[in-house]
Amino acid sequence: MDAKVAVNNIRKKFKELPVVDGVDFQIGDGEFVAIVGPSGCGKSTLMKIVAGFEQPDAGDVRIDGERVTRPSPKGIVISQHGSVFPWLTVQQNLMFGLTGDNHGDKAALADHYAAMVGLKGFENAYPHQLSGGMLKRVEIARALVVKPEILYMDEPFSALDALMNLKMRNELLRVLTEERHTVLLITHDVEEAIYLADRILVLSPRPTRIQASFRVEQPHPRKLSSPVLQQLKEDILVQLGVNNDESSRQGPIDQRAEGLVDAG
Ligand SMILES: Nc1ncnc2c1ncn2[C@@H]1O[C@H](COP(=O)(O)OP(=O)(O)OP(=O)(O)O)[C@@H](O)[C@H]1O
Ligand SMILES: [Mg+2]
Repeated sequence: MDAKVAVNNIRKKFKELPVVDGVDFQIGDGEFVAIVGPSGCGKSTLMKIVAGFEQPDAGDVRIDGERVTRPSPKGIVISQHGSVFPWLTVQQNLMFGLTGDNHGDKAALADHYAAMVGLKGFENAYPHQLSGGMLKRVEIARALVVKPEILYMDEPFSALDALMNLKMRNELLRVLTEERHTVLLITHDVEEAIYLADRILVLSPRPTRIQASFRVEQPHPRKLSSPVLQQLKEDILVQLGVNNDESSRQGPIDQRAEGLVDAG
């Protein structure tokens, strides 16, 4: 598989605080990679570097072989904190990033994406008239409408309640089957990662490194209760140091990681 995004031995310190300690991975064209890791380990920092908003102290990021020195027009970020403009309607928010002069075309495209995330009928509503979940969907539609080649998502669903979180996972999968994107998802939710991703990277505590990598082969829609995915969840939790019984039975985390790290 061609590397759409190549992250080469990234290191980053903030003053004396080492945050990213040599992170190396690639995302294939059209691949969905999820990153999980403990709170404060450096996930958002890593995402900002990959998306071109922060510069690494060492190493580099390449998109289609080209070095990233600033945010690339090929990628778009859906962040932990919202970025919808409160003074624009849903339709105007979606039209915001579109270029071209034909207002009618832009409006039609905006409405198409609003419908895609289940916001038909709310095109002329303002953000304060929407629920939290609807706002998140505006956010996602706004990212998709510009047809980015790469979607960077930092905890996109973490502010949502459990039910809306589940709905949004499915909306996202549906959109991805309609339109292929390369995706990097940061999440603290192991099940979300297992439900969505082709590959899951587990980060260590700060200064962060990749501690293990898991491939998820199951076709969509996935059943999280299936024995294979339950086992995968346990293996990832062991890596995160959550499942203490398991980790003491299976030896030190880094030894166990070695056998699990895959080639790609
Ligand atoms: N701009 C900055 N200046 C100084 N320190 C920073 C900066 N950004 C992040 N940090 C520090 O880097 C560390 C990692 O932060 P980061 O936001 O990347 O973690 P995270 O894994 O995304 O956390 P969370 O799971 O809580 O979202 C933290 O100790 C944080 O204080
Ligand atoms: Mg974060």
